Amino acid sequence: MGLQTSGLFFVIFLSRTFGIQLDGHGYTGVLIAINPAVPEEPNGQVLLLRIEDMIKDASLSLSKTAGNRFHFKEVTILIPSNWKTQKEYKKARTERYDKAHVIIDEPNRAYGDEPYTLQYGQCGDEGQYIHLTPNFLLDDKLVTVYGERNKVFVHEWAHLRWGLYDEYSDEQPFYLSGQGEVEATRCSIKITGQQCGRSEAECKNPCDTDKKTGLPTGDCIFLPDTHTSAQESIMAYPSLYSVVDFCTTETHNAEAPNRQNQMCGNRAALDVILNSSVDAGVPEPSPPFPTVYPTIWKVQRRTRVVCLVLDVSGSMQGPRILLLQQAATLFLREIIEDTAIVGIVKFHSIASIQKSLTLIDSEQTRETLVKALPTTASGGTQICQGINKALEVVMEDDQNTEGDELVLLTDGEANDNMQLCLETVKSSGATVHTIALGPNADQILQVMANKTGGIFYQSTDSIDSNALVDAFASLTTSDGNLTQQAIQLESSGKTTLDWFNGTFSVDLTVGNGTVITIIYEASPPRISIRSPSGDMLSVSDFSHDRPTKTLSLKIAGTAEVGEWHYSLLNEGSTAQAMAITVTSRAARADVPPIIVKAHMNQKSSDGNKAMVVFASVTQKGVPVIMADVTATLVSDKEAIQLQLEDKGTGADAVRHDGIYSKYFTQMKTGRYSLKVRVQNKGKARISTHRYSGAPYIPGYVVNGLVVLNPPKPPVNHEPVEVGSFSRTATGESFVVELPPGSTGPPPFPPCKITDLKAKLEGDNVTLTWTAPGDSYDQGTASVYHIHWSEDLGLLRRDFNETPAVNTSTLSPQEAGSIEEYSFSSYYFNITNGTSVFFAIAAENAKFVPSEMSNIARVVKYEPPVPQQQKSTNVIAIAVSGTVAAIVVIIAVIIYIK
Ligand SMILES: *[C@@H]1O[C@H](CO)[C@@H](O)[C@H](O)[C@H]1NC(C)=O
Ligand SMILES: *[C@@H]1O[C@H](CO)[C@@H](O)[C@H](O)[C@H]1NC(C)=O
Ligand SMILES: *[C@@H]1O[C@H](CO)[C@@H](O)[C@H](O)[C@H]1NC(C)=O
Ligand SMILES: *[C@@H]1O[C@H](CO)[C@@H](O)[C@H](O)[C@H]1NC(C)=O
Ligand SMILES: *[C@@H]1O[C@H](CO)[C@@H](O)[C@H](O)[C@H]1NC(C)=O
Ligand SMILES: *[C@@H]1O[C@H](CO)[C@@H](O)[C@H](O)[C@H]1NC(C)=O
Ligand SMILES: *[C@@H]1O[C@H](CO)[C@@H](O)[C@H](O)[C@H]1NC(C)=O
Ligand SMILES: *[C@@H]1O[C@H](CO)[C@@H](O)[C@H](O)[C@H]1NC(C)=O
Ligand SMILES: *[C@@H]1O[C@H](CO)[C@@H](O)[C@H](O)[C@H]1NC(C)=O
Repeated sequence: MGLQTSGLFFVIFLSRTFGIQLDGHGYTGVLIAINPAVPEEPNGQVLLLRIEDMIKDASLSLSKTAGNRFHFKEVTILIPSNWKTQKEYKKARTERYDKAHVIIDEPNRAYGDEPYTLQYGQCGDEGQYIHLTPNFLLDDKLVTVYGERNKVFVHEWAHLRWGLYDEYSDEQPFYLSGQGEVEATRCSIKITGQQCGRSEAECKNPCDTDKKTGLPTGDCIFLPDTHTSAQESIMAYPSLYSVVDFCTTETHNAEAPNRQNQMCGNRAALDVILNSSVDAGVPEPSPPFPTVYPTIWKVQRRTRVVCLVLDVSGSMQGPRILLLQQAATLFLREIIEDTAIVGIVKFHSIASIQKSLTLIDSEQTRETLVKALPTTASGGTQICQGINKALEVVMEDDQNTEGDELVLLTDGEANDNMQLCLETVKSSGATVHTIALGPNADQILQVMANKTGGIFYQSTDSIDSNALVDAFASLTTSDGNLTQQAIQLESSGKTTLDWFNGTFSVDLTVGNGTVITIIYEASPPRISIRSPSGDMLSVSDFSHDRPTKTLSLKIAGTAEVGEWHYSLLNEGSTAQAMAITVTSRAARADVPPIIVKAHMNQKSSDGNKAMVVFASVTQKGVPVIMADVTATLVSDKEAIQLQLEDKGTGADAVRHDGIYSKYFTQMKTGRYSLKVRVQNKGKARISTHRYSGAPYIPGYVVNGLVVLNPPKPPVNHEPVEVGSFSRTATGESFVVELPPGSTGPPPFPPCKITDLKAKLEGDNVTLTWTAPGDSYDQGTASVYHIHWSEDLGLLRRDFNETPAVNTSTLSPQEAGSIEEYSFSSYYFNITNGTSVFFAIAAENAKFVPSEMSNIARVVKYEPPVPQQQKSTNVIAIAVSGTVAAIVVIIAVIIYIK
């Protein structure tokens, strides 16, 4: 470390690629970003040292897991721009706060100082980011609670990189094993320890046993023995000294009712890493093992420098150039932040500078830029020339292109050599966001964005889709300060001969800098806008820019909270297209706004697997649940609407985590835009329930003595009212390319059932689950197959070979319905202390079967019979706490990549 002469530094820097990559056995491109809310004084420099120490030690710890396969090689820390440190940090290139893999930020309200990873894909899928707080890094008292930072980091890395899950469980800390023993939920089973009543500080008395389940009652905790010799697992107890690795197939505890088993089909962590994660198939290195210390860079983002690179070739003439002006005007007026520096380049047969770099510091400078937008179009499409010209422009400020942004818009194919240009841009360190207007724009646009850390947008060329405005409005770059971010409350359009009406809501978290922008095709519409308290605004309140057919109104101060109604009347004699966009910003610096983000699980698809649409609705990381979320996917051939769900079934991995998901199955070849609309239809609320996190250890057994940790740092669980709110958000566009000649994807199977539960009541077994569809989670499946075994491993490996339950009287209901099926336990010899496991698969009309479901289990438990009393059957762990007769279950998911 520390031997980066500037020459060497530059060379290494240039060779870097975008995103996390595995270079041999070392991870490169890992980005850690510090939120600007973390103050530089007094602890900023200490914090940086702690981060570096944590990463170096974590690299060593990581290299000791998984057969020495992995370590950290190149890590970059993005320093907030408001840190005015003496030190000269390098200028950030494509590193951006929104893309960080690890964020250091104030506590999330749901988690406090507990480290956690935002993870909402299926088993084996990469997560979004790891969240650590300054306290976690600075306060050594938290080390006793969570464990050494480096090992906690490896635990979180396993969530983030390999889609592993926790092997402890706060919901079900104990379970009854197949041998009828009470066990603490953990991996491996070799971790020794002791039960301890939480209220009994000294743990003198044994825990009370629940008479129905045979399990310790709610207040009982498990304290691991610090002298245990178990080496696994980091997913359960990273804080134990001896624990240094992940569970293997041999050491895995497949029975424990934890998320790992539930989500990953009862498979061992190492099995998932080596067989189903992004790093599947990485071979074991042969000794000597490589150096494991990472190189750590520190970079800082400078002023935002953006150059619009606009196509004015012949095909842009007419409606397209108008659309370009309208969308770029909105970007220059409302989206790009003060202090940014903006230039404009246009290209057709030649490229030219429309406006050199201009600092945005007033409404006037914004207007000068708007006036510099091109208004006419003709000639060829020399895209490459345009890009080169733009690279010249963004150098004007500091003779350097690194970290600068280009926004390239075109509707056609390049007449010049784009491959050459791609290389130039890649080595310039600039980011190119690309906007394809209409169906014929150059195919290289998506690649160029992808290779430079930019975003690709596909836009239709109609005003009423508002797609081009949405693309420009999405070109916000957040440094993590949500107060400054432009937020879309409404984006909608219509082609009509008369009325275009609608509503949007201003909620308590937004309202400042609210702007209503209306664009039209032919003649200005009559406008009437009614505020929540009944005030009326009309066209005379708007400023009208006739050449660009744009009307805009800035609401002074903070816009009134509540529902706003708009009515636009086309007064012309023919139908015309109109669109409305409402943007706003945070109303208070101390109340983070509700933010919506949307993305697909993949940027492109060949139709082999269904894609998944995700939308996250959160208030600074805290989920907003039970909102109404619809996604619209538009290509040049079709527009598809999907209702996204947050129910924990089908495509949605976790119920009520504020992530709304749905499968997209009806794909056709083409480029699709993605837009989501979120509303509160009355039920939405903010939930501070946690789903994952670093294991908090309540205490340990040290040399036979119980040592309790300080209680978990308090977390504020106070719910916050959401009230009426509305948002629209545009995600990155994606490309579907089916094999030539095919008109649709192959028939998809019903989606995997992930919520199977089993219950034993008297002599009946009752199974419940959510119905899958004919094609993933849409339509109706044809038939169910239910199999059972007393051997968990057998059922997992050979579902079809295990005995089937007669399902001839069971016919599937529509996707999303709750299914329930009861049958006699007569066929299973279920006696006290024994378990039977069940799994289910659905099949569609084309006889395509789904993957096997999670595995559910019934355990028979009969309490000891006091003398002279009759034996009664009783329940064990009832998930819902229902009163019945015998037991439950563990829901588990199998993931086959
Ligand atoms: C966020 O931005 C606002 C507005 O520019 C500013 O007043 C505030 O200090 C910033 N907050 C942080 C934590 O940087
Ligand atoms: C990966 O999968 C194969 C086949 O299912 C299995 O034999 C192997 O043990 C798995 N690898 C690990 C590390 O579990
Ligand atoms: C984007 O780049 C990544 C890595 O460079 C690659 O794996 C991916 O396929 C690319 N996607 C597209 C759509 O080009
Ligand atoms: C929003 O505007 C109000 C005035 O209406 C002002 O008091 C407040 O500070 C502004 N909030 C932010 C975050 O700028
Ligand atoms: C739209 O709103 C106007 C006035 O608010 C109303 O007169 C008109 O009937 C509405 N039109 C439609 C189609 O809802
Ligand atoms: C078991 O199922 C049968 C038929 O479905 C029903 O008549 C009986 O009441 C059930 N027994 C219990 C204990 O639920
Ligand atoms: C399944 O049950 C149905 C009706 O209860 C019965 O007619 C059929 O013979 C049974 N099938 C098998 C394989 O036992
Ligand atoms: C049922 O299980 C018990 C205990 O495991 C065993 O003694 C008995 O023989 C079994 N009965 C049948 C019919 O398999
Ligand atoms: C059932 O098994 C448990 C141990 O798993 C035992 O404590 C209990 O006495 C048994 N019940 C009966 C009725 O034998």
